[in-house]
Amino acid sequence: MTTETPDLSELDFATDLDAAPLAIGDDVADLLFREARTVNAFADDEVPDGAVRAAYDLVRWGPTAMNAVPLRLLLVRTPEARARLAAHMNEGNRDRVLAAPLTIVAAADTDFHRHLGTLAPHAVRLAERFAGDTGSRTGLARQSGLIQVGYLITGLRAAGLHVGPMGGYDAAGIDTEFFTENGWQSLLVLNVGQPAVADATRPRGLRLTYTDVARTV
Ligand SMILES: Cc1cc2nc3c(=O)[nH]c(=O)nc-3n(C[C@H](O)[C@H](O)[C@H](O)COP(=O)(O)O)c2cc1C
Repeated sequence: MTTETPDLSELDFATDLDAAPLAIGDDVADLLFREARTVNAFADDEVPDGAVRAAYDLVRWGPTAMNAVPLRLLLVRTPEARARLAAHMNEGNRDRVLAAPLTIVAAADTDFHRHLGTLAPHAVRLAERFAGDTGSRTGLARQSGLIQVGYLITGLRAAGLHVGPMGGYDAAGIDTEFFTENGWQSLLVLNVGQPAVADATRPRGLRLTYTDVARTV
């Protein structure tokens, strides 16, 4: 077997001319993907709960394993809670959390099996098996929870918000700080709001193309 490495010198921002037309308009594609940027500095404007609710009302329809829907959200708003969270962020992310109008800790509920009777009546027998198998539960919760985090980033953008995701933090520290009672496990920390007027983003990085990443067998 050979390992093929993409030729990075050929990367560019051009649209794939061989791609078929999209099923959504260019304005939506730009908002959700092409022009959406990771934001590092936010304006002070408060982020209304209603906007986050609108995002989640889309996110919840994205598919998860067994329809387990394991994503949970901790909205960090008060200065006290913000300071508790910032203490567990890597140094480069700490001030961003302290300055953002809203930070969401996206987490996985490893006790998702308690809801299977409602969410997955066809698989309710599995709830008992999951109850005695913490390893399988954690694996499923984290895998589908992370998939839902991807939906969440896109859903927040659909609700007119901007996002700064951060994986650089002490996960055990956050989980102990916030989740000892419910057993949630942090998956990603996301600053949310509107971009600051200046220096909100870094220069746009290139992306691999379809030819670089896709193989057909
Ligand atoms: C899972 C994940 C973890 C990330 N962790 C960090 C982080 O710890 N600190 C940071 O400054 N940016 C972090 N980022 C931001 C990425 O570097 C950024 O989204 C990427 O470079 C694309 O930027 P763009 O959306 O502006 O093109 C993270 C993004 C994702 C999706």
